[in-house]
Amino acid sequence: MNSESSETIETVLQEERIFHPSESNFKNSSISGFDEYQKMVDKANSDPEIFWKDNALNELHWFKPFNSVLDWSNAPFAKWFEGGKTNVSYNCLDRHIEQGKGGKIAIIWEGEPGEVRKITYKELFDEVCRTANALKQIGIQKGDLVALYMPMIPEAAIAMLACARIGAPHSVVFGGFSSEALRDRLNDGNAKAVITADGGFRKDKIIPLKKAVDEALLDGSCPSVDSVLVVQRTRENISFNSDRDFWWHELVPAQSTECPAEQMDSEDRLFVLYTSGSTGKPKGVVHTTAGYNLWAHLTFKWIFDVRDDDVYWCTADVGWITGHSYIVYGPLSNCSTSLMYEGVPRPSNPGAFWDVIQRHQVNIFYTAPTAIRAFMKTGRNIPDKYDLSSLRLLGTVGEPINPEAWMWYRQVIGGDKCPIIDTWWQTETGGVMISPLPGVTSTKPGSATLPLPGIEADVVDADGNSVEPNQGGYLVIKKPWPGMMRTVHGNPNRFRENYWEYLKPINGNLIYFAGDGARRDDDGYFWVMGRVDDVINVSGHRLGTMEIESALVSHKLVSEAAVVGRPDELKGESVVAFVTLESGKEGTSELIIQLKNHVGKEIGAIAKPEEIRFTNSLPKTRSGKIMRRILRSLASGEEIKGDTSTLEDRNVLDELRR
Ligand code: PRX
Repeated sequence: MNSESSETIETVLQEERIFHPSESNFKNSSISGFDEYQKMVDKANSDPEIFWKDNALNELHWFKPFNSVLDWSNAPFAKWFEGGKTNVSYNCLDRHIEQGKGGKIAIIWEGEPGEVRKITYKELFDEVCRTANALKQIGIQKGDLVALYMPMIPEAAIAMLACARIGAPHSVVFGGFSSEALRDRLNDGNAKAVITADGGFRKDKIIPLKKAVDEALLDGSCPSVDSVLVVQRTRENISFNSDRDFWWHELVPAQSTECPAEQMDSEDRLFVLYTSGSTGKPKGVVHTTAGYNLWAHLTFKWIFDVRDDDVYWCTADVGWITGHSYIVYGPLSNCSTSLMYEGVPRPSNPGAFWDVIQRHQVNIFYTAPTAIRAFMKTGRNIPDKYDLSSLRLLGTVGEPINPEAWMWYRQVIGGDKCPIIDTWWQTETGGVMISPLPGVTSTKPGSATLPLPGIEADVVDADGNSVEPNQGGYLVIKKPWPGMMRTVHGNPNRFRENYWEYLKPINGNLIYFAGDGARRDDDGYFWVMGRVDDVINVSGHRLGTMEIESALVSHKLVSEAAVVGRPDELKGESVVAFVTLESGKEGTSELIIQLKNHVGKEIGAIAKPEEIRFTNSLPKTRSGKIMRRILRSLASGEEIKGDTSTLEDRNVLDELRR
């Protein structure tokens, strides 16, 4: 673990405030109190087969029930609910309509320019069936991968469900990624089609999505892609290739609303979602049908306590796992009303979120610590102008939340009456793993508290042994769970090595290494400190330092680059790059701008370094490994601590300090 983490640990553990659950607010929550939670935990530990079997049978619809609960004989390649046949879109739509809920609002959508659409379960069902038929018409078959590169519009959720309905796994690529990053993902996944829009509204700008798709596909650079389905959103002029491109509004409305859900095997792929790791290119995290559906469903039900007439709002983008599990699949599988918002708060409209909460009477609100810190900075007088009394529960996700932001969220947004639900999880885990439960768990500012029933989490040392309370270590999961990723697309070895062989097995049992550092306190509460590998978390966006380094060295003037994260009050971390140039080249301020834009072009604006420092050489060990620990200290203006005797050239330090 790096030195920054251990310092954060000291600060966090001085936190002694505790908030007990308010029983009156959560009398009917899905888990009735701590005793019931403990019973569930005990049942899951003593008989996991029965625990998961009962949940799977009670919570999902099965065309054909499964024969076995878990096959772990080829660990870490798990098989859950084998022999079963189910369909995620059926679980999210058909079964609710069969139970007379077709008229309930499934999605409330608010567009950036302010338009509102309310879509009932029946309307959503019809639109999903039409889209599924349209996909079939353009040649998509069961098993084909369909990429989505879309703004936050209902068609994104519709397209995901349509893919699930016909058994075509989807791969959603965040609309903020560049055409280059999109091309890499299309080729890695062998995508057959792309669903996109002419453009998307973001802040006060238009993002030209279709243009980026055209660039990604230029000159046959993605040979697997046969067709592009385009939603008309911004009505910008776009180029249209009639051999390949189809307008959504011409193709979809003409289709029939009859499209029976494909009966999928439990372990058929539902989606691939790319995320950054500590080495190489982003990896395609594979999730499969039944296990993922069950985990998204159960966690949503346990954590958010959503009642029938509630409005639930998660502010994530569908391009990330939070959008998959907690805008689309979790809420819809539970027949809840999910609010989808295309806009983001910005200087011209700093109260945008609170206005949405007031107008739509939002009850459950789920956002990221970065957003909360930004709101704190603009001051409480902005949220104070709005009526936020509909709120009953406030969630956070994506990065550690500092106690100060936690308290502000609780007091200013929640009026001191809403529990703060700090949920720890990852793209790889499919759904939340460690989180308080409303009406159940006492909360402490900055702690994700306790693992959910069925999840055996721990903090261990490098040998895989549990550490004492209040000692820092690696956050691990010791048993398989249904929502776990199944593999890295096209690279099973990377899955095994990065996650399951990073730490030694204990008594022959593999343990899952999450990449995070954590501590447990005397009450067994988890305090997650952040990544211990070369992944950084900027505003809740996960970025690999190696990816940014490769982007920098692909510039013709750059010889070497090393990227580190620097603690940032608002964003959690910011990107700092140390760059050496080809000999004879000079590091000018123009070149800094050029290099930042180059990273934007290679990956996307979210990866642009905040600061670039030129140097003649980088601190390396004698075996040539870059000593990032030193760079991290330099980037954050700290004194360099720890051993520097392995440095190949000690003069480098003096140069870097200058
Ligand atoms: O470092 C942890 C941080 O986000 C990482 C996972 O990123 P991603 O796969 O993009 O998923 C984000 C949304 C689930 C984790 O390894 N992280 C996520 N939630 C928390 C967190 N760190 C601290 N506290 C959290 N609640």
